Amino acid sequence: MSLPSIKLSDGHEIPQVGLGLWQVKDAAAFNAAFKAAIDAGYRHFDSAQFYDNEDLLGAAVQQMGLNREELFITSKVKLPNFGEKRTASSVDESLAKLQTSYIDLMLLHFPVTVLRRKSWRALEDAKTAGKIRSIGVSNYTIKHLEEMKTYAREMPVVNQVELHVFLQQPELLEYCREHGIVVEAYSPLAHGKRMQDEVITAMAEQHGKSYAQIMLRWAIENSLVVLPKSITPERIQQNIDIFDFELYPEELQEITKLNCNLRTCWDPNHVP
Ligand SMILES: NC(=O)c1ccc[n+]([C@@H]2O[C@H](COP(=O)([O-])OP(=O)(O)OC[C@H]3O[C@@H](n4cnc5c(N)ncnc54)[C@H](OP(=O)(O)O)[C@@H]3O)[C@@H](O)[C@H]2O)c1
Repeated sequence: MSLPSIKLSDGHEIPQVGLGLWQVKDAAAFNAAFKAAIDAGYRHFDSAQFYDNEDLLGAAVQQMGLNREELFITSKVKLPNFGEKRTASSVDESLAKLQTSYIDLMLLHFPVTVLRRKSWRALEDAKTAGKIRSIGVSNYTIKHLEEMKTYAREMPVVNQVELHVFLQQPELLEYCREHGIVVEAYSPLAHGKRMQDEVITAMAEQHGKSYAQIMLRWAIENSLVVLPKSITPERIQQNIDIFDFELYPEELQEITKLNCNLRTCWDPNHVP
């Protein structure tokens, strides 16, 4: 199965589904999840310095003898590595751990006050040096993106934010669409915290799909990249098996009403 991808504004392509790797630190669980994902057709993996598993990802890619060019690997600069020099050296550390000569997508994990400018400069330089193919941000609000216009040599091609049927962020989505920034939906299953909504359950029954598949399909219909995390092989398979059905317009309208600003992770709205 060839997975749909989205073209980034810098010309690179990003597969629309990636395996989330937060809280997957145990080597055996990691390797089993990675193998299940490869078997299911995933080629996009969402890691981060903070997740402490870049080395596991690098080793798993080597062990399975995968063609690097077929993979899309994301990492993120963790908060203690903000600042121009620290960010620059942390990119080199990530490359070493991932056992690769380039990272497909490197993100600033969070809009760290003041230091985010210097870190962005470091990512721009690392991209120029060929260490990173695409650069982006995570947890940035419209305010943080607008500010970037004042200092960025190039704007981010991706903004990775918490986004799911219970946290739809329509203004941010519209802003990113207008500015050619692809939005990646993290915690697309709301971190597994709301898996019994009646409306979603009824749609799942109607389509003969699972509850999680309805949540993920909603994000796909909104042209988002989704990053579901699972260490369970059947769920890993299920979470990518979302391209053989569509939600009806009236179902999409019904889902719009489920937006209730449920945040399961951090809220960057008050970061100056
Ligand atoms: N940039 C950021 O600041 C940031 C923040 C948070 C997350 N992220 C990224 O987004 C990824 C996903 O977010 P997340 O880990 O918070 O949560 P998520 O993907 O929304 O949900 C994961 C939870 O749902 C369960 N699950 C997965 N597939 C399922 C299915 N088909 N049916 C029922 N339950 C299912 C998982 O359990 P099992 O694993 O036990 O199967 C796990 O408990 C992260 O791994 C990370 O890559 C980024």
